[in-house]
Amino acid sequence: MSRSDYQDTGCTGVLCVSEVLLEVRNLCTYFYTVKGIVRAVDDVSFSLRRGEVLGLAGESGCGKSTTAYSIIRLVPPPGRIVKGEIFFEGRDILRMSSEEFRTKIRWKKISMIFQGAMNALNPVYKIGDQIAEVLVLHENLTKREAYEKARELLKTVGIDPSRINSYPHELSGGMKQRVMIAMALALNPPLVIADEPTTALDVVVQAQIMNLLKRLQREHGTSIILITHDLSLIAEIANKVAIMYAGKIVELGYSEQIYYNPYHPYTKGLLASIPRIRGEISKLEWIPGVPPDLRNPPPGCRFHPRCKYRFDLCSREEPPMVEVEREHYVACWLYAKK
Ligand SMILES: Nc1ncnc2c1ncn2[C@@H]1O[C@H](COP(=O)(O)OP(=O)(O)OP(=O)(O)O)[C@@H](O)[C@H]1O
Ligand SMILES: [Mg+2]
Repeated sequence: MSRSDYQDTGCTGVLCVSEVLLEVRNLCTYFYTVKGIVRAVDDVSFSLRRGEVLGLAGESGCGKSTTAYSIIRLVPPPGRIVKGEIFFEGRDILRMSSEEFRTKIRWKKISMIFQGAMNALNPVYKIGDQIAEVLVLHENLTKREAYEKARELLKTVGIDPSRINSYPHELSGGMKQRVMIAMALALNPPLVIADEPTTALDVVVQAQIMNLLKRLQREHGTSIILITHDLSLIAEIANKVAIMYAGKIVELGYSEQIYYNPYHPYTKGLLASIPRIRGEISKLEWIPGVPPDLRNPPPGCRFHPRCKYRFDLCSREEPPMVEVEREHYVACWLYAKK
C-alpha cells in the first residue's frame, strides 16, 4: 500500500483504502526499570479507518494503556517507544518534532480520555475554566467564546450548562468523567482514545457514557479506540476488536468474527468468562494461571503456559499473524504453517 492511498478523499459509507486514519506498525514500547526491561508493547500492528470503533481488550497489565500512550506520545518515563511507526492521516507521527505533534496533533486530531480520568481534574479551578483553557490555548478563542463553547460541550455530554461554575468536588464521579470527555471532544478530533472510560462508575452512568460515545461516532464520524477489559462493553459499540495478551495482539477482526467465531484459545477463554443473560445457560469458565511477567515473558507463544491446546512448537517459536478469514487475523500455531 503506498502512502498516497491515505489521502483524504472525503468518501463515506462504503469502506475504501483511502479511509485509513491510523496505522500502527510493529510498535514496541518498553519500560527500562531498575529491575529489568518491561516489554509492555511488543511488535503491535493494527489499523483503523475513519469512523471505525476499535475495541482493545485483554487482562490487566497486557499493555493496553501503554499502546494508547504511545499513540498520543505521552509514554511516561522510564518508558520509551523503541521501534515502529504510527501513521496518522498518512504521516508518521513518531517522526514529527514534539513541538509539531503538540500543536497540530495532540487534542486537535487525537485526544484521549485517560484511565481514572475523573481524578485528573484540577480541584482548585471551576470546570468551565478547565474546558475553556483547552479552547483558548488551541483554538485561539477569546475567553467569552471559549465559555460559550464550553457550555455547548457540557450540554453534549449531558451536564446542565449551569454547572459551568462548579468545582470538581461539587460533581459526582460520573459527571467528572463526562467533563473529561467534554475536554477530549473540545477540538472535535477525528480520533478519540477512551481508556477504561467507565471503570468505577455504576451501570446507569456507564450506559450513559457508552451512549455518548456511540452518538459521537454516529453524528461526527469520530473514530474511537475503546480500551477495556470488559468485552461486553466492546460488543455494544465496536466494529472491530483487538485482543491483547502480554504485550502482543493475538487476535484482530470485525466484532462479529471475534464474538461468533473466535480462533485464538485466549479469546475463546475470555469470551467464555462473560456471563450471558440470553441463550443457553452455560458454566462460566476462566483461564487458569496468570499473565506472565513482561520483564521475562515465556519463549514462543506467550500464552502457551496457560493454553490447553499447546504442543511442542508453541514453546519454541513465536506464531506469525495469519489471516484466517477476510481481515480476521490470529497469531496461534493451531492455524499457522511452520
Ligand atoms: N511507569 C511504568 N514503569 C514500569 N512499568 C510500567 C509502567 N507503566 C506500565 N508498566 C508495565 O507495563 C505493562 C503494561 O501496562 P499497561 O498499563 O499498559 O497495562 P493495561 O493493559 O493498561 O492494564 P490495566 O487493564 O490494568 O489498565 C505492565 O506490566 C506494567 O507493569
Ligand atoms: Mg490500562
